[in-house]
Amino acid sequence: MPQHGVGLRTHHFPQWLELPKRVGLVEAITENFADRGGRPLAVLERIRRDTPVALHGVSLSVGGTDALDVEGLARLDRLARRIDAAWVGDHLSFGTVDGRHEHDLWPVPFTEEALCHVVERIGAAQDILGRRLVIENVLSYIEWKDSEMTEWAFLCEVAQRSDCELLLDLNNVYVNATNQGFDPYVYVDAMPTPRIRQLHLAGHDVNDGWLFDSHAHPVAEPVWQLFRHCVRTHGPVPVIIEWDDDAPSLERVIAESQRAQSMEAEVLAEQPGAA
Ligand SMILES: [Fe+2]
Repeated sequence: MPQHGVGLRTHHFPQWLELPKRVGLVEAITENFADRGGRPLAVLERIRRDTPVALHGVSLSVGGTDALDVEGLARLDRLARRIDAAWVGDHLSFGTVDGRHEHDLWPVPFTEEALCHVVERIGAAQDILGRRLVIENVLSYIEWKDSEMTEWAFLCEVAQRSDCELLLDLNNVYVNATNQGFDPYVYVDAMPTPRIRQLHLAGHDVNDGWLFDSHAHPVAEPVWQLFRHCVRTHGPVPVIIEWDDDAPSLERVIAESQRAQSMEAEVLAEQPGAA
C-alpha cells in the first residue's frame, strides 16, 4: 500500500525533532533545503533516517523561456542524492521572466507550441538529473484565449511525450474546474494511471462563488469526494496534505493524512474482488 504523509514546514521543526517518525512519507520543498545546510537540512536528514522523502520544487519554470536553471538542477541533484529522495518534481508552470524569478507558478497556454516547449525542457532537465520528474498541475485564475486543448489533454500529452510522471493536485483540479466551469471528474478520469506518482490534497477559500487555493483550511468535502473517485479509478497513490497558512499543529495536519489513508482503505474494500 502507498505511504501517505504531509509537507514539511519550518514551524513544525520542533515537533518533528521530538518524534521524527510520524508518517509514511514526507514532502520537502527543494529550495528550502538545497545547499542550505544548518538546521533545516539537519531536521530533514533526521526525518529521512526513518521516513521516505519526496522533493518538490517551485523554481524550475518548465514553461518559462529563460534558459533552464542548470545550477538549480545541480543543487536539486546533490540534495536528492544526499537524502536518497523517493522522487523529485516541480510544477507545470513558469515563474521566471527576463532573468527575474517571481516566486509564482503561472500557468502556460495549452497550445501545441507550448507543449513542445515544455516537453523539451522537461526532457532536458530529466537528462541532466538522470531520472524522471514528477510534474504537478497548477492553479489558474485565468484562461489563455490561445489555448487549443483542455488542461487535462495538455497534461496527458506532457506526461506521454516527455516520459515524466505526474503529481495530481486534486484541490487544484477542483478549484480550476469550479472557477472555469469544467467537470473535475472528466479531468481525473483522463489521467494516465501508470504515470500518477503522487497526489496533493489541500484546503481552499470560497469567496462570492469563486474558489481560491489558500492552503489554509482542512480539505473541502467535494475534494474528498474527488479523491474517492480518484482511488476508485486509478487505485492507491501516495497522498501528501498541503496546509501552509493558519497552520494548526502537526498532529492536526497528520490527522488529515490519516483521513486520506482511511478513505482509501474504504474505497478499496468496496472494489469488486476485495477480501
Ligand atoms: Fe499542490
